Amino acid sequence: MSKTLIFAHRGSKGTHPENTLAAFQKAIELGVDGIELDVHVTKDGELVVIHDETVDRTTNGTGRICNLTLAEIKQFDAGSWFSPNFADEKIPALTEVLQLLKSTDILINIEIKSDIIAYENIEEKVLAAIKNSGLNESQFIISSFNHYSVARFKKLAPQIETAILFMEILLDPWEYAANMGASALHVYEPVAFTEMSKCAMKHGFPVRVFTVNSHEHMRALMDLQLSAIFTDFPEDALRIRD
Ligand code: G3P
Ligand code: MG
Repeated sequence: MSKTLIFAHRGSKGTHPENTLAAFQKAIELGVDGIELDVHVTKDGELVVIHDETVDRTTNGTGRICNLTLAEIKQFDAGSWFSPNFADEKIPALTEVLQLLKSTDILINIEIKSDIIAYENIEEKVLAAIKNSGLNESQFIISSFNHYSVARFKKLAPQIETAILFMEILLDPWEYAANMGASALHVYEPVAFTEMSKCAMKHGFPVRVFTVNSHEHMRALMDLQLSAIFTDFPEDALRIRD
């Protein structure tokens, strides 16, 4: 029986402030198979790890990432909104997270958040960060809801795995994915239970499911032997699986 891999979604988002070094550190300590993170580009062209287009929800600051410099963003507290125990957390640059993961063999899913703001050259920047990280290229999976980004990244780096993110039941999505060189499907949990997943796996396309937090759904997807789940509670998922 093939084992469903467990990815810590935005780090250990359920127990730590999402997309912070503390959240990724926890995921490493738990022994997850992979981590997932989201990237945006600052006003001065730096890649930062944060989910939203603005800092409003997850820091004590306000404003759009694209209107703030990295130095400005570093002033904000990215932990207290979650718990006072994490008051020292900052929004990390992608390079800092990759540094933390150095000398691990954890899979790293970088989600390019270019579906709302079309950041110039974000794909080139992600590739440069991977190349400079010293990590093995085979550890990386690049995904996006913006499939133009997926296609652009694949052209730049055919050797690095790419995946399309989507939320619908699609007909033969592996054919669509293959058209742009993507080789995996990252699908929304409610549609992961349909025949689409089984067919995709049969066609050799790994199916990874976001975001799986109920124990019942974790078990069900593991029983279906889908490739991986993204979860905010990797500790629970590891316990259930192992
Ligand atoms: O990459 C899987 C998942 O993170 C996609 O949704 O909104 O949590 O980035 P979101
Ligand atoms: Mg994401």
